[in-house]
Amino acid sequence: MEKFITCLTQAIGKTPLLRLDKLKEHLGYEGHIYAKLEYLNPTSSKKDRIALGMIEMAEQKGLLKPGQPVLEMTSGNTGTAVAMVCSAKGYPFICVISKGNSVERVRMIKALGGQVVLVDQAQGSQKGQVSGNDMELVAEVADRLVAETGAFYFNQFHNQDNSASHEPAALEMWVQSLGQIQAFADFIGTGGTFMGYARALKRLNPAIRCYAVEPHGCAHYKGEVIPGISHTIQGGGYAKDMEIVDREYMDGFITVTCDESAEMCQLLAKVEGVFSGLSSGANVVAAIKQMKDTERGNHFGIVINDCGLKYMSTDLFCM
Ligand SMILES: Cc1ncc(COP(=O)(O)O)c(C=O)c1O
Repeated sequence: MEKFITCLTQAIGKTPLLRLDKLKEHLGYEGHIYAKLEYLNPTSSKKDRIALGMIEMAEQKGLLKPGQPVLEMTSGNTGTAVAMVCSAKGYPFICVISKGNSVERVRMIKALGGQVVLVDQAQGSQKGQVSGNDMELVAEVADRLVAETGAFYFNQFHNQDNSASHEPAALEMWVQSLGQIQAFADFIGTGGTFMGYARALKRLNPAIRCYAVEPHGCAHYKGEVIPGISHTIQGGGYAKDMEIVDREYMDGFITVTCDESAEMCQLLAKVEGVFSGLSSGANVVAAIKQMKDTERGNHFGIVINDCGLKYMSTDLFCM
């Protein structure tokens, strides 16, 4: 047992890696899925890693000074994570967020001392579905507020420190799996998680295959033509090139539906006790699909991105 900690940021990381043996028994696929339980971080998502990593890298580079505000535009989890790290480290935090996101996240950011600026969705967008156009409107407001307040722009969509902050998690996954990981898949949002794991895992073993996970009807990296965004998987599936993603690291593409992801979240909760959000269900579905194809019998790593509690205002767990 480690001794007490003196700042909550010290509780970020070192998450368990759960081999999904009960799910395997239930579904009967060949091989093993190892789930990195990132929802066990202090604000219940993997984004705690980048909140701490990117803020500390900015401090080291002299880009963030004591007392300077931090500003971010976010689909939600990054907002709550940065709010927590700012609270623990004593920085004011301004969060610009689309009205398309769930209400829990906004309330949580406010509870953590953050100031929330809500931005109307683009014409034609639906509540609960944050589109590329919605994100562009949020970016416009964020740019204006950075200029007005002199805040440090956290900028997860454009800052390579995002992916660098996930590399330690990939190293943990490798060690915890006893060096057995042969494939990895991740649902692409900013692409920071995918790139961090892909870079770190391929450095350890260049033969590891890394797959991009995308929503059905929105498989941009796979090369599909997308008439319009129509999925409910929060945190990604933006149907455009992400600045911090290098396609060279993508060995394949896996498409999953919203229904498949939701059903997997419900099953994971029932058989493994893992209470997760839609993108985590998407990752598990993707791994199983690939293990029924080219990765049969292999050891597959995925991330459980956030906690089901963040989806209580959606119908994810209305069963
Ligand atoms: C729940 C959830 N899943 C997946 C993602 C995508 O992760 P990344 O931005 O690292 O690609 C995010 C990002 O916001 C998220 O909040």
